[in-house]
Amino acid sequence: MHLLNRIIVATIPLVPRRIVRYFAGRYIAGETIDHAIAKVRQLNGEGTCATLDVLGEDVFTREEATAFREQANQVLHTIVREKLDSNLSIKLTSLGLKIDKDFCRENTREILKVAAGYGIFVRFDMEDSTCTSDTIEIFRALHRDFSKTGIVLQAYLYRTEEDARQLGAEGVGFRLCKGIYKERKEIAFQGREEVQRNFLKVLGLMLRAGAYVGIATHDSVLVDGAQAMLRDLGLRKDQYEFQMLLGVRPELRRTLVREGHKVRVYVPFGEHWYGYSTRRFKENPEIAGYVFKAIFMPNR
Ligand code: FDA
Repeated sequence: MHLLNRIIVATIPLVPRRIVRYFAGRYIAGETIDHAIAKVRQLNGEGTCATLDVLGEDVFTREEATAFREQANQVLHTIVREKLDSNLSIKLTSLGLKIDKDFCRENTREILKVAAGYGIFVRFDMEDSTCTSDTIEIFRALHRDFSKTGIVLQAYLYRTEEDARQLGAEGVGFRLCKGIYKERKEIAFQGREEVQRNFLKVLGLMLRAGAYVGIATHDSVLVDGAQAMLRDLGLRKDQYEFQMLLGVRPELRRTLVREGHKVRVYVPFGEHWYGYSTRRFKENPEIAGYVFKAIFMPNR
């Protein structure tokens, strides 16, 4: 990361929340379900589908975890009522993973029951490496009963290749992304090119195993590499999809749609926008420039 960017990102905790919220605006649909509906409608109108996410993570009380479950269920009812082309993404730490694994599994089961009743697909997001094994374990247990579910694997982890082989053999579909959390060099690739190489290696392995993959990246090297692989394997356009985050490289998203690829946009919304948004700032190579302009040229 550019030095100035790194300095700006390091100072985010000191920045007043309302200013952080201003910069977060491009990455989140808003704070209410109505904001989320409007954003998904707009994306559907542009030829993309969505996955909705109620922002929140690291919940430490059963009451809060139950409230997150109810919000997820509300999203499912809304998708059907509003006829949105969207599925749902969930984070297990918002559903009680750090409180009690069995509680989390059963809490999540209640969401999957509602989703299955509507035929809506649910994706299990992947959080930091302290959650990987537990997320896979809970996912596996529930996937047996609810087939319209999939998991996320992160290309930066050494273990991902083996996880992809094992889960692929069980007929699981994936979202493959680089991984956003800071992980130790003992367990994760650190260099940009190493992560790119592993992404394409694991993607090839998943696609050759016949898995449906959500290719989740805005990195042109990976988008081009994936497209070459899809051509070589002769895959049809209904055998994979590209996935991108709200507010990131919309022009690339439109190009992929024009070329006839299925593209899904991750649409987070809710009151707990801070943690997610600051992770996005860290990845924005232009954040320093935006902050500079906002401070010194506010009326431009
Ligand atoms: P990279 O970060 O190199 O970005 C490529 C280019 O995109 C940049 O050069 C820049 O031009 C642009 N860009 C990227 N981020 C930007 C930003 N914030 N603002 C402006 N421009 C930006 N991770 C995880 O650990 N668990 C998960 O469950 C998920 N889920 C998930 C879903 C979806 C749909 C996506 C697309 C991504 C995730 N991720 C994730 C995040 C993922 O791991 C990764 O951190 C980001 O996608 C960024 O990596 P890229 O592959 O896009 O490359």
